[in-house]
This record gives sequence, structure tokens and C-alpha cells, in this order.
Amino acid sequence: MSDRRWDTVLTYLAAAAGPTGVIAVDGPAEAAGLLAARLRARSIDVSPSGDVVVRARTSRSDGRRADVAAVVDLSDPSWPILSHADPARLPAERWYSTESRAFFAVRAARWDAKFGDDLPAYTAAVSSSSVRPGGVAIDIGCGTGRALPPLRDAVGPAGTVIGVDHTPEMLQVAAGRARASAATLVQGDARQLPFATGTADALFAAGLVTHLPDQDEALSELARITRPGGRLILFHPTGRATLAARHGRTLDPSELLAADVLPAVMSRTGWSLLSYDDAPDRFHAVGQRN
Ligand SMILES: C[S@@+](CC[C@H](N)C(=O)[O-])C[C@H]1O[C@@H](n2cnc3c(N)ncnc32)[C@H](O)[C@@H]1O
Repeated sequence: MSDRRWDTVLTYLAAAAGPTGVIAVDGPAEAAGLLAARLRARSIDVSPSGDVVVRARTSRSDGRRADVAAVVDLSDPSWPILSHADPARLPAERWYSTESRAFFAVRAARWDAKFGDDLPAYTAAVSSSSVRPGGVAIDIGCGTGRALPPLRDAVGPAGTVIGVDHTPEMLQVAAGRARASAATLVQGDARQLPFATGTADALFAAGLVTHLPDQDEALSELARITRPGGRLILFHPTGRATLAARHGRTLDPSELLAADVLPAVMSRTGWSLLSYDDAPDRFHAVGQRN
């Protein structure tokens, strides 16, 4: 498994970083050396005078510098993940799905033990979002299904609850909650959803949109499957500043969920922003389909 994972990442890196380029690495002190050795074993010239330079990433913004071809997460050296590639060298279409699923696959089994305390926050987020009884509510990027029970409570027995995720391991963990909430689980990509135009009355997306490579495209696809007047609930059980501090980074004012960015992105993708709350203990924004 681990060898196959390394093989996948090294193939992406050969495409993104060749013939010249910087690869920035997250992980323990020895991570850059480990990756350099793996690349050399593939006859990729990695040395101070070589064409490909491998070094530790110094900050989140460092990974977006023009000379950085790719960023690799080696927090677990047996499970490397490509977390960023310069789109001009390697378009997201070629690597994003595989790498995102690999990232979440190994986290699925421990997800609820790690984040179980957040459940009341999901209930509060759904109950304060005017989800219509009897409607169709879809949790996009549902993970282990933490929002499925409150979505069922909100739509009632006559409504429909669906959870969508592209990581099979997450859906396996979600199966118990889905059964208990009479919800249907669908393996699918948020960027190309298997639903007809105007299907949904309410979409719930927790911890999803900032992971997607083309956020305009993603919000437009969410708008496509939502009926006019329907809701989009963007949620996270911690606010942006709290989350940034937890990950040791500073707040990025150009990020999609920033107060100065989200209204414009929503309005050009078919939504009107109805409410926005970026408190220390939650991020909660509700949009209405135009
Ligand atoms: C941070 S987790 C949040 C999970 C869940 N919403 C929660 O709050 O516990 C992000 C989830 O989105 C899923 N995901 C990421 N990109 C996706 C995509 N393009 N389509 C569908 N699911 C995606 C991941 O598999 C993962 O389960």
C-alpha cells in the first residue's frame, strides 16, 4: 500500500517538478532528505546544483511562491500526499481527487473519536439555518455523516436526506449514522454532482469548500443542483482565526471564506449571502439560491 502511494506521488512530482522546480515538504526534519532520496532513486537530479530542489516548506504562503512546483505532506512518511501543485505544471484535474481521497481515507476510522465533541455544534448549525420540513437536504462532503441526524430532524419524516462524499472510507464510517437517520449515501464528486438541476432545497457543506481546487466552479455546481430560494449552509465547528492558529498559520485575507471575499464569489456563482458568522467557536454562513 505504502509503496503504491509513494509511486503515485513520485509520478506526480516527476510531472510537476521536471525538468526544473522546487518541491516544498511538510513534515518532520528528515522529510526533505527522505523525499530527495526517493526522487534520486528515480534518476531525478536532486542536489544543491541539480535541476530539482527539495526543501522544507517554511510557511503556508511559501508553498504558493512562483518557483514552487509542488508541496508534499510527509507528516506520515509512509503515506505521502501531494497537497499542492502549480496548475501550470500539473493541472488539479490530474491529481486532486486521488490525493484528497488518500488524505481522508487514512483519517476516516479515527475521525469521530477525534472530533466527536463537535456534534452539538452541527445540530445548532442546522437548526439555525431554516432548513424546510419536507424538503431535500444534501450534505456535500458528508465525511462520517455528523450532520445527517440534525438534517433528518430538520426535514422531518417526509423529507429526504442524502450524504455525498468522494472518499469510500468516510462513507463506510457514515453508514451507521445514515441508517439511523434514514439517509442515503452517494459516492460522488462535489464538483460534478450526480443530481438533476434544482434537486435540493438545502445543501450543507462542512469543512469542504476550502479543500476544492476551483471554488467558483464548485459553488456554481452547488447552485446548479439547488432550487431557486434553496439554501447553502457553509459550516465549520471552529472559526477561521481559531482554525488558522491551530494549524500554526496566519489568516489569509484572500481565502474564499473571508468576509471580504465570500459575498462576491457567492453572487457570481448564483447565490446571495444571507448571513455570515465567523466567531471563535464556529464558522457559519448561509446563502440563498438566486
Ligand atoms: C474536512 S472533512 C469534513 C467532513 C464532514 N463534513 C464533517 O464536517 O465532519 C472534508 C470531507 O470532504 C470530502 N471531500 C473532499 N473533496 C471532495 C469532493 N470533491 N467531493 C466530495 N467529497 C469531497 C472528504 O472526503 C472529507 O470527507
